[in-house]
Amino acid sequence: MAIVDLRDRTEDFTANPYPYYEKLREAGPVHHVRTADVDEMWLVVGYEEGRKALADPRLSKNWRNSELWDPEQATAMSSNMLETDPPHHTRLRKLVAREFTARRVEAMRPRVQQIADDLVNSMTAKGSSATGAADLIDALAFPLPMTVICELLGVPDLDRDRFRAWSNEVVAPTGTEASAAAVSEMGGYLVELIEEKRRAPGEDLMSALIKARDEDGDQLSPDELVGMAFLLLVAGHETTVNLISNGVRALLDNPDQLAALRADFDGLIDGAVEEMLRYEGPVENATFRFTREDMELGGVVIPAGKPVLVSLASGDRDPDRYPEPDRFDIHRAPQGHLAFGHGIHFCLGAPLARMEGRIAIRTLLERCPDLALAADGGPVEWVPGLLIRGVRKLPVRW
Ligand code: HEM
Repeated sequence: MAIVDLRDRTEDFTANPYPYYEKLREAGPVHHVRTADVDEMWLVVGYEEGRKALADPRLSKNWRNSELWDPEQATAMSSNMLETDPPHHTRLRKLVAREFTARRVEAMRPRVQQIADDLVNSMTAKGSSATGAADLIDALAFPLPMTVICELLGVPDLDRDRFRAWSNEVVAPTGTEASAAAVSEMGGYLVELIEEKRRAPGEDLMSALIKARDEDGDQLSPDELVGMAFLLLVAGHETTVNLISNGVRALLDNPDQLAALRADFDGLIDGAVEEMLRYEGPVENATFRFTREDMELGGVVIPAGKPVLVSLASGDRDPDRYPEPDRFDIHRAPQGHLAFGHGIHFCLGAPLARMEGRIAIRTLLERCPDLALAADGGPVEWVPGLLIRGVRKLPVRW
């Protein structure tokens, strides 16, 4: 099978990957590919095969089962749910699920609304409706989820600028050294943060996780606590920022859909956010999985220890699952989309992310009836890499 070389299409591909995924999907569900970062991996495209692969127990999430594994790079942060398999994963997920409950998320609703109100008010206070312009990422899409996850975990005074820089480096590395430095600084910072919480516990999720024990007396180890804090803080904002910004972009690019939503927020906002997740979800490709053994996937034999990437973006634009997949249609009700993954690693934060997305977008649109993209916004800068789909800046006026 010929290797598909994605290195020389990087810019095009990043700006609009969907036609590439569709061409691959038409040729078959599993492809041997090479990217700028990884010499060889297997890419799964299309809805059915992608969904199956996400739940396939022959694919491991543990980097120790991969030929890419470098023991020197192992840190406490690797003890997180997205890098473990059952039974370790089951244990971690059970301990966090006891604390990260629907009740805890629902209790955040008034606070999420207040944060959204404050951010949108302070954005609009800075300019009149004729001249107002701002970067929506700086004004709303980043600070909202960051504030929410920090308050939920009980670290309101987290050094957000430093954390944002490390976190950006982790999800879209600019180089091996920069990425290793970010990981190590972030690890040291989280150890201190947890120590502080241990000394002065509160009613928050992090304090609860430190204390949490299940019926058998099982508890998170110090490394597992660092891994959990890392995963929740990074997953809690790197994704939701792009749900808000990709969602607003989709609405502004599709004025008929925007008008329909404005006419009936109560009836349409939930479905509109689901369609935003399907149409341009924040996670373009799921995190790496690794073949535990030589295995056949979608008619292709993959040797043991190889990385496999499941393209959520391709699955969610598969015309066999969603007719006219490139059309953004807030009435579509895209049940079963893959934006939050599938199987045992299905996004733990989905209910929180949905709530944040619905509140942020509705609040923004209600407060800014003339919201539009700023014409002189300059060229669009995409988040690099294959993991995250989103833009670095979204200049808007109102
Ligand atoms: C729109 C926003 C979000 C999107 C699109 C999203 C997407 C995803 C996806 C696709 C996965 C599975 C990855 C894989 O299987 O490789 C995942 C896992 C996860 N997400 Fe999210 N996420 C979002 C928001 C959040 C938030 C707000 C939190 C936390 C507060 C969170 C916490 C997690 C955790 C802990 C996992 C790992 C679960 C496990 O391994 O069992 N996510 N997310």
